[in-house]
Amino acid sequence: MKPRMLKANTWWVGAIDWDRRLFDELIPLPDGTSYNAYLVQGTQKTVLIDTVDPTMTSPLIDNLVQLHIKDIDYVIINHVEQDHSGTLPEILKLYPNARVIATPNGKNLLMNLLLIPESKIKTVEHGETMSLGDKTLEFIHTPWVHWPDTMCTYLREDRTLFSCDFFGSHLAMSDLYVTDEATVYEAAKRYYAEIMMPFRKIIKSNLEKLKDLKINVIAPSHGPLYNKPEFILEAYRDWTYSPPKNTVVLPYISMHGSTKKMVEYFVNSLVERGITVKQFNLADTDIGKLAMALVDAASIVVGTPTILVGPHPNVVYAVYLTNALRPKLKFASIIGSYGWGGMMVRQITAMLSNLKVELLDPVVIKGYPKEDDFKALDKLADEILSKHKEHDLI
Ligand code: FEO
Repeated sequence: MKPRMLKANTWWVGAIDWDRRLFDELIPLPDGTSYNAYLVQGTQKTVLIDTVDPTMTSPLIDNLVQLHIKDIDYVIINHVEQDHSGTLPEILKLYPNARVIATPNGKNLLMNLLLIPESKIKTVEHGETMSLGDKTLEFIHTPWVHWPDTMCTYLREDRTLFSCDFFGSHLAMSDLYVTDEATVYEAAKRYYAEIMMPFRKIIKSNLEKLKDLKINVIAPSHGPLYNKPEFILEAYRDWTYSPPKNTVVLPYISMHGSTKKMVEYFVNSLVERGITVKQFNLADTDIGKLAMALVDAASIVVGTPTILVGPHPNVVYAVYLTNALRPKLKFASIIGSYGWGGMMVRQITAMLSNLKVELLDPVVIKGYPKEDDFKALDKLADEILSKHKEHDLI
């Protein structure tokens, strides 16, 4: 994709990755992604804001060549993860006079992860400004979106916020700005769920730091830019501040049908009580969809058979991720079956230690469910209903 002008002398010079299907060898990318880098030319200085993934070195350099960029004074690294900084060594070879700007944490990571010499790096404090001549940059430290090093760079005259991962979405598309809000909302929510949700409390303080800025455009480093910033700011406020919803997330797996029968019965029981259910068969599920469902849910009920005395390994994976993502969940329970005993409940419970959830009595049965087991599932559904009502979720 060729350079694209945001404003006079401010350019998108990044790369669209239509084909990538996995990030960090973990996160599904059903819609590809982009690595947005930006070039800002002031009357006195030229800066490159972020670079691109090392696999996309050529598109970035081609864009700089097409713009006839002979000198870069500074490369601003808002975030050191390699999808944004990985091309920095190549850029510094091409532009040997360029210095690198980062937060103090960013400097440390640049030296350790990319072996950038200390003498090349200038650190900036929160609120510090830099004049490019007719343009002014302000650096806003926004840690943990998504590493401790992260900051946003605000271009005052254009009222543009370069936010790197913050507000991003893994979405490859030809449109520079958001055109289809529903598509971008889904991708941005997936991104928030997978990348940002563990840092929800810090995100609140980062949103506070931005609230007095006049922002015309939010230019993240993944996905389309927002020329109606309130769209994504409001979404972030909802995901971080709003109470959870009257929803049960139900990830499960079944080997021989007993747990599946319990899940089918239990889902109907919850729905009859007016509770929304999001059910995921972990034999073949998009873990990003599960993460998205966790953004809003008040309860999780895990369904698993017993294998080698514990939960099914796919359930272990899903529970581990849920615990790591630290969603707003308030209640948790377990349903499932065993043949001759096991420690499945104890093991799953121990894996949920990050979550401030109340554990509701599990329903774990021997073999295929029978009449009393269905009654126990109804009782669990009643208890979830009662808890959701107590918290004004219904
Ligand atoms: Fe897009 Fe945390 O890197």
